[in-house]
Amino acid sequence: MRPLLLSRNKRYMIYFSIMAVVISLFVLIYLLLKPVETWPIPAQELGFNKDLRILRGKYLVENVAHCAHCHSPTDSTKFGFPVLEGRKYSGGFLMGHNQGLPAELYAANLTPYGLSKYQDDDLYRALTQGVAKDGHVMFPLMPYGAYSKMDPQDVWSMIAYLRTLPSIRNDVPTSTVDFPVGLINKLSQPSPQPTSFASLSQEADLGAYYANIAGCLECHSPENSRHEADLSQAGAGGRAFVLPGGGVVRSSNITREPRTGIGSWSADRFVSRFKQYADSAYRPETIPAGGANTYMAWHFFAGMEEADLRRIYAYLRTLPPQSNQVVRYSPASN
Ligand code: HEC
Ligand code: HEC
Repeated sequence: MRPLLLSRNKRYMIYFSIMAVVISLFVLIYLLLKPVETWPIPAQELGFNKDLRILRGKYLVENVAHCAHCHSPTDSTKFGFPVLEGRKYSGGFLMGHNQGLPAELYAANLTPYGLSKYQDDDLYRALTQGVAKDGHVMFPLMPYGAYSKMDPQDVWSMIAYLRTLPSIRNDVPTSTVDFPVGLINKLSQPSPQPTSFASLSQEADLGAYYANIAGCLECHSPENSRHEADLSQAGAGGRAFVLPGGGVVRSSNITREPRTGIGSWSADRFVSRFKQYADSAYRPETIPAGGANTYMAWHFFAGMEEADLRRIYAYLRTLPPQSNQVVRYSPASN
């Protein structure tokens, strides 16, 4: 009987292998054929004062969305990775295989030189629908999912500000994503769900609006098995970021939990934690190789309006408290 049993197992094995191959092929064909989605672009409200629009866009781009944090070369020897002098928004290498990503990601040159092929509508689509001018759906590290929830007029204001940046000649290679992971980006396209900013009146709702653009919970929630923020533990912190030199920095617990989070912090303490980097005398300190640095965008957020920081504080107070003791730094293990 033995040989018969074995061969029956073998038959099952062959059967399951064929099924697995067929299912994978179907998934692959589905992803290959799935069109890149595009939705209509909301109109730009006319009658806005142009200068005020640019000012609003500047605030959102510089201090809330902190686009330059990713889209510029930075100085890795200084606290908080400040942008290299004179190279802001000129783009550069961000991360890739060296950090275990299935991709080589370059952040684009956002100055007029880099965006010369983009009409305003193309930029709107890239920022909120994740489709680059060349038609590829971007890797979701570019936070288009968050920007898809912005008020359309705020998106237009950001675009208006980007058009005023001084042009810097710098050609950035196109990002590449390993096959077949690149196809999966098509699944991360957000359908538009814009917020009406004028309809927000509660402090905490305004705070949620700015926190979304700033990506607070994206960084300050633990990572799930798919390397995404686990929002069922929003704000609990502990997301690990590898530093140059191999050390690890982890995001803090920013829920109102009193022992492991910031429950004991007053709004004033919260605001001054950010504003300490806004002091005109402040210079980012030099961090020795392998030392404790941070990806928290302190240099950008320090310029946020105090009222908006208080709103973010009010919003964080509404998150369920999470008990999670985070070890902020671990040195390289070698
Ligand atoms: C967390 C890092 C990060 C932040 C913050 C970020 N980006 Fe990006 N951005 C990227 C990466 C990475 C890509 C390339 C993605 C790809 O092609 O798969 C990208 C691509 C783009 C592109 C497409 C350019 C091209 O090559 O065609 C535009 C436009 C853009 N970003 C604008 C912005 C603007 C404006 C902001 C702020 C409102 C911003 N980004 C914030 C990482 C970031
Ligand atoms: C790119 C990832 C990233 C983003 C975006 C980010 N943070 Fe952080 N944050 C960190 C990391 C990492 C730390 C720990 C290292 C440090 O203190 O700088 C941190 C530290 C903090 C701390 C210090 C807590 C303490 O105990 O001193 C506060 C408060 C904070 N973040 C709030 C926020 C808020 C509010 C936002 C959104 C406006 C935000 N963060 C956005 C990564 C991020």
